[in-house]
Amino acid sequence: MKKHTLIQSGISLIALFSMAFSTASQAQSNYPTKPISLIVPFAAGGPTDAVARLLAVPMGKALGQTVVVENVVGAGGTIAATKVARSTPDGYTLFLHHMGMATAPALYDSLPYDPMKDFDYVGQVVDVPMLMLGRKDFPPKNFKELEAYIKANKEKVTMANAGPGAVSQLCGLIFMSREGVKLTTIPYKGTGPALTDLMGGQVDLLCDQTTQTIPYVKDGRVQVYGVTTPKRLAALPNVPTLDEQGLKGFDVKVWHGLYLAKGTPTPILEKINAALKKALNDPDVKARLNDSNIDIVAMNKVSPEALKSHLEAEINKWGPIIRKSKISD
Ligand code: MLT
Repeated sequence: MKKHTLIQSGISLIALFSMAFSTASQAQSNYPTKPISLIVPFAAGGPTDAVARLLAVPMGKALGQTVVVENVVGAGGTIAATKVARSTPDGYTLFLHHMGMATAPALYDSLPYDPMKDFDYVGQVVDVPMLMLGRKDFPPKNFKELEAYIKANKEKVTMANAGPGAVSQLCGLIFMSREGVKLTTIPYKGTGPALTDLMGGQVDLLCDQTTQTIPYVKDGRVQVYGVTTPKRLAALPNVPTLDEQGLKGFDVKVWHGLYLAKGTPTPILEKINAALKKALNDPDVKARLNDSNIDIVAMNKVSPEALKSHLEAEINKWGPIIRKSKISD
């Protein structure tokens, strides 16, 4: 190749690179220019879906684009996590997930994604307590009676959950392991449909988040046997904790995080983080979450670093517990 042709092709390469660079940085500064998808790993009408829909409107307002909730259900949230991990890292696919992100690696022999390598982290979101619930005509009327009943009836008792990786499954498995019984578990695509079946009397038990269950406890459409956190709830002060009823140290509180695919440009991630903070400070959002006894995390936890280090700590916490208790379905 002649010298001037070499120089010419070098110049056109530089021109190409700088064009690509300016297009990319333009895309980042213009972001968002189209609707954003917010993936929820469980069924519509469930607790994760409810939190996502509550945040979608104020986040959309803050970003100047519609945030559309999309339910990608199945396999305890791992199908959705796989889809997000493989999505284009352009900020148009957000992912709201709970502590299943930390428990799935110990519950599944292999996962098609790595929670510590395949995601970018926007921030922690909310912490949600859980309730041990029973169908309203289930014979045991309190926790002591429940313990006696499940010991006598074992596998005849059915317990709903949302699959391995779901917190309803984790709570149920810890409960069974503490009680030394194996009940019959019935998997759903989320606790939204599981709660419907509990109210319809098709299943006996469900450990579910407070997000949508408090009104049904109050109006007697389901029975409540205990709170999964060490402290009683302000919204249900008369309901004792499982810890105070004999399951010492029973402590399951469901933390949530907002994620993106790995490689999302920092300016885009920062815009999404600012929108999340704004949504969590919205007075309507605060009031709705408060009604469901849901805690918004401290604002310094709504950060990529805080979510990443919390996720790592939770993987390290739950992995040995799950493996040691031989917790599996
Ligand atoms: C849901 O949204 O259906 C729940 O978070 C499922 C679960 O983890 O129990």
